[in-house]
Amino acid sequence: MAELIKNLIDGKWEEAPTGETFESINPANTSEVIASVVKSGKADIDRAVKAANEAYVKWRLLPPPRRAEILFRAAEILEKRKQELGELMTREMGKVLPEALGDVQEGIDMAYYMAGEGRRLQGETVPSELPDKDCKSVRVPIGVCSLITPWNFPIAIPAWKLMPSLVAGNTVVFKPSSYVPVCATRLVEILEEAGIPKGVLNLVHGRGEDSGEYLASHPATQGVSFTGSTAVGEALAQKCVGMGKKVSCEMGGKNAIIVMDDANLELAVEGAVWGGFGTSGQRCTAASRVIVHAAVYNKFMEMFSKAASGLKLGSGLLKQTDVGPLINSSQMEKVLSYIEIGRKEGAKLLTGGKAYREGDCVRGYFITPTIFADVEPSMRIAQEEIFGPVVSVLKARDLEDAIAIANGTKYGLVSSIYTLDVNRSAIAERELDTGIVYINASTIGAEIQMPFGGTKKSGFGFKEAGGRGGALDMFTRWKIIYRDYSGRLQKAQIDK
Ligand code: UN1
Repeated sequence: MAELIKNLIDGKWEEAPTGETFESINPANTSEVIASVVKSGKADIDRAVKAANEAYVKWRLLPPPRRAEILFRAAEILEKRKQELGELMTREMGKVLPEALGDVQEGIDMAYYMAGEGRRLQGETVPSELPDKDCKSVRVPIGVCSLITPWNFPIAIPAWKLMPSLVAGNTVVFKPSSYVPVCATRLVEILEEAGIPKGVLNLVHGRGEDSGEYLASHPATQGVSFTGSTAVGEALAQKCVGMGKKVSCEMGGKNAIIVMDDANLELAVEGAVWGGFGTSGQRCTAASRVIVHAAVYNKFMEMFSKAASGLKLGSGLLKQTDVGPLINSSQMEKVLSYIEIGRKEGAKLLTGGKAYREGDCVRGYFITPTIFADVEPSMRIAQEEIFGPVVSVLKARDLEDAIAIANGTKYGLVSSIYTLDVNRSAIAERELDTGIVYINASTIGAEIQMPFGGTKKSGFGFKEAGGRGGALDMFTRWKIIYRDYSGRLQKAQIDK
């Protein structure tokens, strides 16, 4: 019998009163049920939000270094259990084991980093224009936050949201994707074991349409941090901003790698393969477009196509596997339909392009790594997010043309340029209209000590992760304090 995965509400692990459940399934082998999971309804979410509001009263007053010690312990436990969690992740969502271990590591990094913030959380003190008066700013928590996370980074993205929100003194209701409930539950158990008090961190399972939307716009929460599709994020942002909540939405991408004629082509090919087919293309940072200078186009295509067709599909637990499955049947259908669209639009299918059901892959959602050549910027496969192992390659005349093509979509998460010319790299860095720009590196590999987020339809509201302008800006607000110890009425701007 598969394990029953429960909600955590007010410090108690419990089943939903309706008794309804859903299953978490291995996408590489759909006959393997990982767990059975409680399906939450509105009543469960109401209770979780209530518990978070009650716990907030005390948690916000616990000194941040004390809160940080809990995160530090959680980081240590995560580190000890890294291998086990990585293997679970590969089984639950399919990414290959080295990537799954990297995902857990990103969670560990974020836990340590935000634990460090517990002893910083700096504000400012500045001089007053009046005698015997001081001026300072302090970060204060915002209240109860709804955290809604996707399936493609089952530990890392929840950690991006949980660690900063908790260290800052907020209490939370966390709703992970219904495709990775077990990974999310293990992370919450670890935080509980590390000492998070009851009610501070509540976990509710369910599908986005049933419970995510209700939680995001719950009137008794003050902030919502969401990672997922642009369609859902935009609707949610509109509603929540109107309700006066703080909002952070990380959404889609159509990220491009530019390959110039002076680039190290071997390196650029490696970057395109890693960015395009890592996590089977299921990253918001995936390199789903490659824009190649006309002078090296044929050479690059030959090398890229050869590298992609040599990738091995299979279970991510096997050493020889390069690319795992897609997450579910609807993603599989969506990706296959985009391959069909690309064909009909007249792009040239160089390699891949089909479902793969050989050997052990017969019961999984596998698609062969796919490259389209001669893609035009206006084609749908050059404009829309596919979220699968499909890369569209476009030809550019020169740097200016390449940048214009790269910027010519509604998204703006990541871009990258391969060039050995320092002047070209400087121009690209200035002109590429994305939240993140890489030079001589692929589009994936953001580090947690820098903010993460995009422009245009890729992001709305506060950014994620660390650094100046990162998640602490989402999970705190500035309070400005003036203290007058002169004992008399002093008038700013008037007394001189
Ligand atoms: C995402 O795809 O949603 O830079 C996040 C990267 C990872 C994070 C990706 N560190 O690809």
